[in-house]
Amino acid sequence: MKIAVVKEMASLEKRVAATPETVKKYIELGFEVGVEENAGLHSNYTNDNYEIAGAKIYSNIEKLISSANIIIKVNNIHTDGEGADNIKYYNKNNIIIGFLKPLQNSQQIKKLAENNIDAFSVELIPRISRAQSMDALSSQSNLAGYKAVINSVNEFSKAIPMMMTAAGTIAPAKILILGAGVAGLQAIATAKRLGAIVSAFDVRTAVKEQVESLGAKFVEVTIDKQNESENETEGGYAKEMSEDYKLKQKALLEDYVKKQDIIITTALIPGKKAPELISSSMVKEMKIGSIIMDLAAEAGGNCNFTKANETIIENGIKILGPTDLPSQIPQDASNLYAKNLLNFIKLMVKDKKLKINWEDEILKKSCVSFEGKIINI
Ligand SMILES: NC(=O)c1ccc[n+]([C@@H]2O[C@H](COP(=O)([O-])OP(=O)(O)OC[C@H]3O[C@@H](n4cnc5c(N)ncnc54)[C@H](O)[C@@H]3O)[C@@H](O)[C@H]2O)c1
Repeated sequence: MKIAVVKEMASLEKRVAATPETVKKYIELGFEVGVEENAGLHSNYTNDNYEIAGAKIYSNIEKLISSANIIIKVNNIHTDGEGADNIKYYNKNNIIIGFLKPLQNSQQIKKLAENNIDAFSVELIPRISRAQSMDALSSQSNLAGYKAVINSVNEFSKAIPMMMTAAGTIAPAKILILGAGVAGLQAIATAKRLGAIVSAFDVRTAVKEQVESLGAKFVEVTIDKQNESENETEGGYAKEMSEDYKLKQKALLEDYVKKQDIIITTALIPGKKAPELISSSMVKEMKIGSIIMDLAAEAGGNCNFTKANETIIENGIKILGPTDLPSQIPQDASNLYAKNLLNFIKLMVKDKKLKINWEDEILKKSCVSFEGKIINI
């Protein structure tokens, strides 16, 4: 069994899919490990570090890929233009594993299937307890929530905590988090640690307790108790809300948004366009110098003005839509992602041989291309 760790080609991608620590574990599992030259440099892992862990370094990508059973990567496969992956070397003996973004990149998945290349997309790993250690979406969103606050604070022209000084008192900043899932909860915790007055909103009332346990105020739309379960799917994800709910939510947020200094938005319903929570008119009501950090930029944004990977200034309000926040903390993001992948790949190995058990719901649900067919998308 041979595993290949390829260098990421996308311009904003600084993470790597294996660390020297996980290389050692793959070797214990019975793999030979090949690493593309300089694949780990952004994460502070040198070629020597990988070699000492037991990997072989390849400068010839064709040789690395052609003999590999499994290719692990971070970002989706880019087929065209600058930053394109070396897909021409991928072959029918390869299994590709990474954040393949199957919904946004169905054409690339189609190309893999047409070439009989099997592929697993880590975003589709079900959020069940047994899969927690493989949940790459959560490990990366957690870091994104943290970095979103740090970057917003850097853009903000005032201090965050209350300070009483001889020259006067600085009022604490008000930070609002919209969407209290994995990224949102870490954003709340980070903003609290910095001394902000934090409030949060989510359509799932089930998160109220978690928000409050982190010391933030939960902003709540009042709905009939009878309809309470209707805002969450069985899998614990948010559902699209009724028009009546959306109107109530808009009225509530209009009042809240204009009082905030920093707003971090993370609201998402898997597979759907991000809900618009901050309209143009709400932005116009905000104080000059306020910041909106929109984590949902890649799915269209929670703010009407958001543009992915751009900073928009509207009436003195800065609206940022970075899509690479975990990659801005590459070392920790790579460490966590590499462990997620190792735990996932362990499911494919039995007695030092590759064996994919299709009865396992984690493998079954995360596979996007198998034996020439597109599945699960
Ligand atoms: N920009 C980046 O670099 C980056 C990195 C990681 C994740 N993300 C994005 O961050 C977002 C959050 O990721 P996550 O892992 O925390 O997802 P999650 O599913 O854990 O959380 C999303 C939350 O949004 C809530 N939500 C849905 N619709 C809502 C609405 N209308 N109003 C308020 N809340 C609503 C859900 O109930 C859920 O709690 C996603 O859009 C994800 O793609 C961005």
